[in-house]
Amino acid sequence: VLQLTLAVIKPDAVAHPLMLQALHQRILDNDFVIVRRRDLAWTREDSQRFYSEHSGRFFYQRLVEFMSSGPMRAYILAREDAIRHWRELMGPTKVFRARYTSPASIRGQFGLTDTRNTTHGSDSVESAQREIDFFFPDFCAEEWMKKE
Ligand code: CMP
Repeated sequence: VLQLTLAVIKPDAVAHPLMLQALHQRILDNDFVIVRRRDLAWTREDSQRFYSEHSGRFFYQRLVEFMSSGPMRAYILAREDAIRHWRELMGPTKVFRARYTSPASIRGQFGLTDTRNTTHGSDSVESAQREIDFFFPDFCAEEWMKKE
């Protein structure tokens, strides 16, 4: 079934124009439809709010700092099974795992550390809804699906 997901190119990747371009091309090459796209930067508070579920974790502070350290690019992507396909394309969160098990994945190729890992993708239908709403408050998924 046709599904929407939220994909984010994080500050480490946006900082490098060639990497940003390569990631954009990866989206196009993998049959995603770009429904919305937005360049933005977070305050510390945005970052804390988005990642509040990780607030007890040892990496929370560095994650919050990193995600509010510079510009990002967010996309709403559509495809059948979009959530799983985008996560497969990204590869594992941890950079050593990405390098060894999925060297061709985005994180396997470009990930710097477990925190500075180039991209984000929603992990479920529920989180996709929440995250799309967070980045694109004016977007209405029901209306978009009706038009398609
Ligand atoms: P993301 O997919 O955006 O979801 C949560 C983020 O927390 C993750 O990508 C990483 O950037 C970061 N993260 C997850 N696990 C770790 C870890 N073990 N060490 C450091 N950062 C992490």
